[in-house]
Formats: sequence, C-alpha cells, structure tokens
Amino acid sequence: MKKILVFLIAALFVGACNTKPTPQVTVEKETQPVPTLITQKALVAYFSATGNTKKVAENLAKALHADIYEIKPAVPYTAADLNWRDSNSRSSVEMSNESSRPEMAENDISVKEYDVIYLGFPIWWGTAPHIVKTFLEKHDFSNKKIVLFATSGSSGMGNTAEDLKPSVATIAQIKPGKVLNGNPSVEELKYWAQTME
Ligand SMILES: Cc1cc2nc3c(=O)[nH]c(=O)nc-3n(C[C@H](O)[C@H](O)[C@H](O)COP(=O)(O)O)c2cc1C
Repeated sequence: MKKILVFLIAALFVGACNTKPTPQVTVEKETQPVPTLITQKALVAYFSATGNTKKVAENLAKALHADIYEIKPAVPYTAADLNWRDSNSRSSVEMSNESSRPEMAENDISVKEYDVIYLGFPIWWGTAPHIVKTFLEKHDFSNKKIVLFATSGSSGMGNTAEDLKPSVATIAQIKPGKVLNGNPSVEELKYWAQTME
C-alpha cells in the first residue's frame, strides 16, 4: 500500500513537471479608429447670400461628416438688395425692422433627428440676417444644441447669440460660436468644432 502511494505521488510529480508551459499568447486588440468627434448627430444649416458662408458650411459638414441644409430665401437677394449703403435696399429695410421674417423657399428639413445644429450665416449689420430667425422659429429646437458660425467683412459675432435666443425655446442651448473668415480648411474646422463640444 505504501509503495502504491509513493508511486502515485511520483507519477503526479512527473506529470506536473512534464506539463508544457502554456504559451503566452498576446491577443492584440483590434485598433479601433479613435473617434475624434462626438457621437452626436450633427446638421450644418446655413444661409449664404454671396457664397462665402456656403464654402465654410460645406467644409464644416465634411469635417463633421454631417448633413448639410441650405436656408434659401423664397426670393433670392440681388446685388441691389444687398447694398448696405442704400437705406432703402431690401436688406437695409429688413434689418431695420426687428419683426421682419423673410420667407424661406422651402422648409423641408426636420431637425428632430439631430442633436447639434451648426448654424451659419453672414454677419449683416453686426448680427444674423433675419431669415435665420425665420428658420429658427419654424422648427422646434427644444433640447438641441445650436452652434453659431458666420463669415463677415471684419466684424465678430457681437451679440448675435443673444439676438437669436428669443427665436428658440428656452431649453435650447445656443453657443455663440465664431466668425470663420479666411476660408478655414476642413482640418481647422474639425479642430474648431471639437472646441464647441
Ligand atoms: C446687408 C449686408 C450687411 C453687412 N454687414 C456687415 C457687418 O455689419 N459687418 C461685417 O463685417 N460685414 C458685413 N457684411 C459683409 C458680409 O458679412 C460678408 O461679406 C459675408 O462674408 C457674406 O457672406 P455670404 O457670401 O455667405 O453671404 C454685410 C453684407 C451685407 C450684404
């Protein structure tokens, strides 16, 4: 009996010694692309009378892989309409009347499915053209984040955000954003958008 016991212990010992060391397999984690931007669904909506804001909006949409929507006036602005030196021009008349709400050609976008709306326009008389208010007042921006951007001759955003606030529900968040002059690149816009998160 004692012999059998010794034999069994020896067999177990030899068995243990023969166990091959388990190879150290390192499972490389698949490299996932690091998301550089928020997972929020973004829309770039813009109004542009002469094309400057349009270029920025298009590059911003590229940078964010966002949908893009142009706010088009029902009656396009002519050069004469845009003459700010003429106090009787259409833009001067509209901008001097706080309650003017120029009509949009269409309103075929639903903002429901978006978390954040980048809203672009030219600076007119230090603020947003009133058609931007028309757009804001036609949709429900409750709980949405609106990030403003603009192009201008030289002015900054000034009080544009404050000026636009009454056109949205109080539970919408408006970020004053920035004037993005100088044709910023897609990369530069991507960086800027990250600072707005
Ligand atoms: C009626 C009108 C008013 C403007 N007011 C200003 C202004 O107050 N400050 C400024 O820097 N530029 C002003 N500008 C210049 C525009 O903001 C600028 O040219 C802008 O880039 C035009 O954008 P868009 O091509 O997208 O329409 C005005 C232009 C117009 C037509």
